[in-house]
Amino acid sequence: MQPMTHNNITSRETSHRKGILLAGGLGTRLAPLTQSVSKQLLPIYDKPLVFYPLSTLMLAGIKDVLVISTPDHIDQFKRLLGDGSDWNMHISYQVQAEPKGVAEALILAESWLDGAPSLLALGDNILHSTGLTGLLLDSVQPSQGATIFAFPVQDPSQFGVVDFDENGAAISLEEKPSNPRSEWAVTGLYVYDETASQKARSLSPSTRGELEITDLNKLYLSEKTLNVVRFPRGTTWLDTGTLDGLVTASEWVRATERQNGFKIACPEEIAWRNGWISREQLAAISLRYKNEYGAYLKRLSDSSKS
Ligand code: TTP
Repeated sequence: MQPMTHNNITSRETSHRKGILLAGGLGTRLAPLTQSVSKQLLPIYDKPLVFYPLSTLMLAGIKDVLVISTPDHIDQFKRLLGDGSDWNMHISYQVQAEPKGVAEALILAESWLDGAPSLLALGDNILHSTGLTGLLLDSVQPSQGATIFAFPVQDPSQFGVVDFDENGAAISLEEKPSNPRSEWAVTGLYVYDETASQKARSLSPSTRGELEITDLNKLYLSEKTLNVVRFPRGTTWLDTGTLDGLVTASEWVRATERQNGFKIACPEEIAWRNGWISREQLAAISLRYKNEYGAYLKRLSDSSKS
């Protein structure tokens, strides 16, 4: 068998793992911005928020994605992303009738997954670092258990929090604890084996009436099949659920793109770099945008991949 490397496109394409992009919810904290518009379609500088978690799935080599959103908003996502064929992906859609919790995504996706392992991304989380692609590709390789990703924050009480023993193994998981045992917040990206939907169906709603993703992860922890990856220094993780988070993310994307000369989370670029679309297809898509976004895609299609 050919050894896998991070740049080995073939290995990405042969992954049977499917992506779930959860883009529903109420967006209560962002109202009235979210009165008539989905949170995940709000702009983060030069693109809709959903492009960022979608790009995370694409960087993990995932071509098959199920977008889950509310009855009011699902058509807006269809208009934006279509069936994914522009990027040589397959994008499907599923309505979540009510926001009954992140873990419900695994139940709603069960028949679409059809026994495949999954990578679940929350639609309002932005992840970026130079080594992210390699880390993601390594993390989606194991076929058993679950992998979650932790990031150190100043106020862990807003998040799911994971604590470790002296050997670095996860020992506890708590949802929004008032006295957090560590600074490590659980981010909105979860790698699951094919037992996740069945496990999610065994959960009971929490006191806030939701199927908690922390409870699902606890089942893996109790089976000793929960792997926790701590994001290394240099990783940027932005949760855009609050007004400040939204503005901070836009400012960060604008500053970073200007500094680097490359866009963050441009799906056309990732599809091209992954070898999913040709230079000619990239050039054809660039013509649809009579603006800086189109000029960027055209510039890429004229350049050599670096
Ligand atoms: P949250 O930020 O916890 O919830 P929310 O988006 O409804 O916002 P607010 O708390 O301000 O009301 O959700 C995290 C992500 O998961 C976000 O992208 C929305 C999504 N989500 C769903 O799609 N369905 C759900 O049932 C829940 C709870 C969240």
